[in-house]
Amino acid sequence: MKKLLDNICQAIGETPMVRLSRITKHYGVEGNIFAKLEYLNPGFSKKDRIALQIIEEAEASGKLVPGQTVVELTSGNTGTGLAIVCRAKGYPFIACMSEGNSMERARMMRALGAEVVIVKQKESSKKGQVSGEDLALVEEEVQRIVKEKNAFRADQFKLKGSINAHKYHTAVEMWEQCDGKIDVFVDIVGSGGTFAGCAEKLKEYNPSIRCYIVEPEAAAIYAGKPTLNEGRHKIQGCGYNMILPLIDETLIDGCVQVTDDEAIDAARNLAKLEGTFVGFSSGANVAAAIKLLRDKEKGKNIVLSLNDSGLKYLSTDLFE
Ligand SMILES: Cc1ncc(COP(=O)(O)O)c(C=O)c1O
Repeated sequence: MKKLLDNICQAIGETPMVRLSRITKHYGVEGNIFAKLEYLNPGFSKKDRIALQIIEEAEASGKLVPGQTVVELTSGNTGTGLAIVCRAKGYPFIACMSEGNSMERARMMRALGAEVVIVKQKESSKKGQVSGEDLALVEEEVQRIVKEKNAFRADQFKLKGSINAHKYHTAVEMWEQCDGKIDVFVDIVGSGGTFAGCAEKLKEYNPSIRCYIVEPEAAAIYAGKPTLNEGRHKIQGCGYNMILPLIDETLIDGCVQVTDDEAIDAARNLAKLEGTFVGFSSGANVAAAIKLLRDKEKGKNIVLSLNDSGLKYLSTDLFE
């Protein structure tokens, strides 16, 4: 058990790992899924880890100075992590989020002391489905604020901290918690930081571990598939249908596509069968693992992350 902590930043990471045996039984597949319960971080998502890493790397390099404003584009989870870390360390924080993301996230960031700027979606876009084009509008607003405030941009799509958090911590914990018995790692990508950090470290431990990128079926750019429904899907926080600067493509051993319905079905079963109450992207990771256990990776041990809490989706149709 962790000792008495001096501040909330020290509560980030060292999340439990659970074997999803009821899920594998329900879907009738051979093999194991080991799930890292990242929704148990203080901000209820894995993105707390990168928030802390990015801020601490910026402090160490002198790119972030005491009292300087921090700004970032977020689907809500990185922003929540940054709100927590910035509050603990005394930096003002501004989060820019698309109106397409669920509003519980904006409320939570504001409650944590962040300023939240909501950016309108493209006219043709839908609530709950944030496209790459919607994200580009948020990016414009972020760049404007960074200039105006001379702020530090905690850029989750470009900064090494986005990879390092998972390379130095998440992957090390996975390896230790599974006693090294890992054959496969799967991960749905947003910034690609989790995939890049975990794949790099896991392959360092054992080069034969296969690392698969998970993508929404509608936005499977790494798989080279045609874009469907203009790249729109319900899996918030990921699947922006763009090539990601953080990902070294030599780390990718394969791609798996998941539909909204498959992700939703898996998320509902995670809650009902395993007692793990998580969001769309966690469902997508598990749905992808099930596909691999049915076919290419039958009987293997697959490790993945349950990325954020189902509480962040109560205003959506996930648990209707
Ligand atoms: C819920 C959720 N799932 C998955 C991801 C993707 O993680 P990464 O940015 O490490 O690729 C994110 C990123 O914000 C997220 O919020």
